[in-house]
Amino acid sequence: MRGSLTPPLLARQQRWPWWPLLPLYPYGHRPTLMRELVPGRVWCFEQLHGIWYVAVPIRMTVLKVEAGLLLYAPLPPTAELLTELRTLEEQHGPVLTIVLATSSGLEHKLPVAALARAFPEASVWVSDMQWSFPLQLPPTWLGFPQDRTKVLFRDGLPHPQQLNWLPLGPIDLGLGTFHEIACIDQATGALLVTDALVALSATPPDIFQCDPTPLLFHARDRGSEALLDTPDNRTKGWKRIVLFANFFRPELLTIPSLAELVADARSSHDPSPRNHFGIYPFRWQDGWEEQADQWIQSCTDTVPCSLAPVLERLVFVRSKQIYLDWLRSLAKNDTISCLIAAHYSAKTPLSCHSLDHLADSLQSRDWAPSDQSWQTLAFIDRTLIKFGLVPH
Ligand SMILES: [Fe+2]
Repeated sequence: MRGSLTPPLLARQQRWPWWPLLPLYPYGHRPTLMRELVPGRVWCFEQLHGIWYVAVPIRMTVLKVEAGLLLYAPLPPTAELLTELRTLEEQHGPVLTIVLATSSGLEHKLPVAALARAFPEASVWVSDMQWSFPLQLPPTWLGFPQDRTKVLFRDGLPHPQQLNWLPLGPIDLGLGTFHEIACIDQATGALLVTDALVALSATPPDIFQCDPTPLLFHARDRGSEALLDTPDNRTKGWKRIVLFANFFRPELLTIPSLAELVADARSSHDPSPRNHFGIYPFRWQDGWEEQADQWIQSCTDTVPCSLAPVLERLVFVRSKQIYLDWLRSLAKNDTISCLIAAHYSAKTPLSCHSLDHLADSLQSRDWAPSDQSWQTLAFIDRTLIKFGLVPH
């Protein structure tokens, strides 16, 4: 699907398979939105992914390099995605390079094998210290093609005349290693990151026009309510998804009793699989929207991006200085003009001064707090420490 969007295709959702045993959205149907971000130079492909309708955009960025194309942060190569990508190849040259710039982001790692098979002539570059859990599998078992996979920095860097590469980490997580490589395209000023920076929007990203169901599902207060597609409900659902995705369990959220859930489901006007059979196991307390607005605005007021709380509390909790140093090193690149992250918003205007402001802001505030909406993340961290799964 190209950047100009068609009306919601709600009818298509009816053919989704049963979901209850593994509620990984989008349940086998994966629309793709393609957008040209910089004419003739940068494009992105976006899909939705998540669990229990807590769906956020996931993005692969395509850069024009030399005589072809580079793919950063792989996506599953659906037929729709491949059709659009083949069109780009006809206009701008073949896919030369596929880059997995994270060692820990499973959602970016899983598509590498299929994408590499779709482009058998492309070089595959991955960040160092790839890992898998519960078993540490060899790279070939992860689907990285043995004869054309290289490790960033260890085996060189792709397209170094055009692209700057800046590593973040490695950081020992106990179960594995966090290691991410940012890429700066000197030709356009685009800063590409995978998970280490996010830019939030107050309104739902465009990809939800392909399927607004996750927004409408979370816009309700009870499972007995129908999914109503209105602009207000889309925004309401998006704000709740932002809280879920960033904090897992926000402060002003409670879980109703099983009896309440069953009663709601039995009185549901829409007990279909798409509506999760009328089950909505959340109750939002007064003040949740103010908290969502506050969080979103904190990511847009002074600087247009931030570090996701999940990463701050569970990855960089004891490595604040490493993250700040990385931001400062990024800020030395005065060619940076925009941020293209692998999640949430894309092509957010950004300057080296903004990155310095972000570093200043993070340095001066409490790091990885444990109160309010951060409580669940703090509990997970304490539990991992208690069982010796992460280092102190
Ligand atoms: Fe990610």
